[in-house]
Amino acid sequence: MTVPRFAAAKGRGERLAMLTAYDFPTAARLDAAGVDALLVGDSLGVVLQGHATTLPVTLEQMIYHGEIVARAAKQALVVVDLPFGSYQTGERAAVEAGCRVVKETGCAAVKLEGGRTQFAAIRALVDAGVPVMGHVGLRPQAVNVVGGYRIQRETESLLHDARAVEDAGAFAVVLELVSIEAAAAVSRTLSIPTIGIGSGPHCDGQVLVTPDMLGGTDGFRPRFLKTYGNLHAMETEAAAAYIADVKAGHYPTEDHGHR
Ligand code: KIV
Repeated sequence: MTVPRFAAAKGRGERLAMLTAYDFPTAARLDAAGVDALLVGDSLGVVLQGHATTLPVTLEQMIYHGEIVARAAKQALVVVDLPFGSYQTGERAAVEAGCRVVKETGCAAVKLEGGRTQFAAIRALVDAGVPVMGHVGLRPQAVNVVGGYRIQRETESLLHDARAVEDAGAFAVVLELVSIEAAAAVSRTLSIPTIGIGSGPHCDGQVLVTPDMLGGTDGFRPRFLKTYGNLHAMETEAAAAYIADVKAGHYPTEDHGHR
């Protein structure tokens, strides 16, 4: 998958499937399953590192995980998030961060949050040769400004933001937690693909946070999430069975040893 092919999927009427990945074995499995794009999301701050928000994630950490995922991906497009603080200070910071990410990870593109306010940063990155996926609607990096994770319903404002992202040269845009109506309007209006998360069925593609999709995040069951596994129960039960075996002397047996 390349950036132009990904962008052209909308014209071909093809829906796009994207998932997050942060480590080599998961990225390799998702890639082999045929996912169109792997997002090394700054959601790793929450699902891997255990923080309450994505704000503490650093550029170095994104590069570390981005390089691992890009090495595992044989066919999927790899997109790496620019973390909070790495591009908000201006175009120069954005280009420096984006170039480092592409150079040091081998990924194809970066993603950053924001619409009209990030027009100049997106344009500067694209001019520098760094493809950009936009991200509008709920912006987790702005959690302290908006005061929580709420559904975004202001269609006009979302349209302005999404158009700004497209006009700046982005090849696709994530719509996070946008109402079904607003997401449909944005998807109809833009010529680049919209990738929804919690934004209903009318986007051109979908993305989920892989540990959520696999049922790995205990107790996290937002309305938009469909789980395709029960990783949390599987890991907990497997670990409990192993512990019980070891304590009871049932594992290892002589069959597991060498003479
Ligand atoms: O960080 C992330 O995983 C994301 C997705 C939720 C789109 O931005």
